[in-house]
Amino acid sequence: MSPYVSYAVIIFILCSLVYAQVYRASSTTKRINLSSSNEIRNLLDPPTPLAEQLTARATSNARLMRAFSIHSTFVHGDIDTHTTFTKAAVELISRHRLPWTLFADIASNVVDAHLHRLSSVAFDTFISRITLHVVIVGLLQLEPSFYKIDPDDLDVVAGNINRLWTMSKTTTEIPSHMLAEVNVRLHRWLPTYSNPIEFVIPVYETLWRVIAVTVALNHNRSDVRAVFAAFLSQPDSRRYHYIPDGDPSVEVVMQEVLRLYPPTRRISRTYTASDFNLKYLPSFLAQCMTRTITQVADIEALQRDSVWGVDVNDYDPMRHLPQRCGEAQRRTLLAFGAGKLTCVAKTWAPHAAAVIVATILDRVGDGDKTEFEVVAGGGIGGRSGWDGWRIQRVGRGEEIVG
Ligand code: HEM
Repeated sequence: MSPYVSYAVIIFILCSLVYAQVYRASSTTKRINLSSSNEIRNLLDPPTPLAEQLTARATSNARLMRAFSIHSTFVHGDIDTHTTFTKAAVELISRHRLPWTLFADIASNVVDAHLHRLSSVAFDTFISRITLHVVIVGLLQLEPSFYKIDPDDLDVVAGNINRLWTMSKTTTEIPSHMLAEVNVRLHRWLPTYSNPIEFVIPVYETLWRVIAVTVALNHNRSDVRAVFAAFLSQPDSRRYHYIPDGDPSVEVVMQEVLRLYPPTRRISRTYTASDFNLKYLPSFLAQCMTRTITQVADIEALQRDSVWGVDVNDYDPMRHLPQRCGEAQRRTLLAFGAGKLTCVAKTWAPHAAAVIVATILDRVGDGDKTEFEVVAGGGIGGRSGWDGWRIQRVGRGEEIVG
C-alpha cells in the first residue's frame, strides 16, 4: 500500500472516531413520546420477531430488575423465560383453579377480617392492604389460616413495593433493607415460590390502583352501587356484562376507570439504532455510531383522545355502551397493551377488580345501611395522592390499636 493510501486510511479512521464521539455525545440516548393510535400500535405490535420485542421491553424495564431483583419476562429478553412466565401467570388465574364464586368468597373473608378491627384508616392503605391480602390468599389457594395475616405486615409489603417502584424511576441508590423487608414476608406467605415478588408485582401492583379509583369514583353513586350489589350475588361473566335498563353495567364502569386512569400510563421500548449504514464499518466504529432510543407509548394521552368528545376528561361509564363507542373509540383503549406482549390478564383483571370493589361497596359507604363510610379527599390519586381520603366506622374517627 502506498504511503498516501495509508495516510488517507488513518485520517479517515481518525475523523470517523472523532465524529463518532461527537455523534454519541450529542445523541446517545433519545426519548420519543408517542400519543397517536397508529404510532402506539406500531410500537407495541411491530412486525419484528418476538425475541426482539422482548429485548426492547427488557432493556427499558432494567430499573425494575435493579429495584426488585426480579428475573421475569418483564426484564429478560429470552423466549423461554417468556413462555414459562406467561404460562404460569395464565394458570394462576384460570377459572378451573379459581372460579369467580371462590374468588368472591376470598374477597369477602378478607374484607371482613380487616373491617372487624377497624375504626379509621387511610383509604389507599386500606385498599392496598385488601388487594394484597386477596392476591396472597388467591395465589395460595385458600388456606384459612391466611385470613389472619397481620395488617402491619401487609402494609410493610404494600408500602415498600410502592416506594421501591417510585424510587426505581428517580434513583439508583435504593436501600437494600426495603426489598428485604418485602421478601422475608412474601417467602413466609408463599413458600412454594422461589421469588414470589415476580408474581405478586404484576398481579397486585396494577390491581390495587384500579380498585382504589373505582371505589373513589362510585362510592356515592346509587346506580353503580346497585349493579355492583347484583354482581356480587352472582359474580360470573354473564352478570359482569349485563346492561341494566338505563344504568351502566359493571363492565362499562371498569372500562371507563381503565380509560381515564390506566395503571400503566406509559409503555416503553428501548433499542439501538443509527442514522448511518454501518454494514461496511469495523464493529468498534459501528458501535460508536449507534445510539439508544426509547420510544414511549403515552397510553393515558391516547385514551383521552378527542375522539371521545368534548367531555373526554369526565368520568362517564355510559360512553362505552355500543351506541356511543365505535371502532375509532375502541382503537384508543390500550390499558393492557397490544400485540404479542398484551397482558395475559386483560379479561380476568377488570373482572377480579370488580369483585373486590363490589365486596368493599357492600360493606362501606351506603348512608345508614353500612357500618363504614368513605371520607372523600381531594382529587383521585394513583400510587400516591390520596390525601384526605379515609375509610372509617360511621361516627368514629380513630383506628383501634392492637
Ligand atoms: C388492571 C390490571 C392490569 C393492567 C392494567 C395490566 C397491564 C399490562 C400491560 C400494559 C402489559 C403489557 C406490557 C408491555 O407491553 O410491555 C401487561 C403485560 C402482562 N401482564 Fe398485566 N396488567 C394487569 C393485571 C395483570 C394481572 C392480574 C396479571 C397476572 C396474571 C398480569 C400479568 C401480565 C403478564 C404475565 C404480562 C406479560 C405478557 C407477555 O409478555 O406476553 N397482569 N399487563
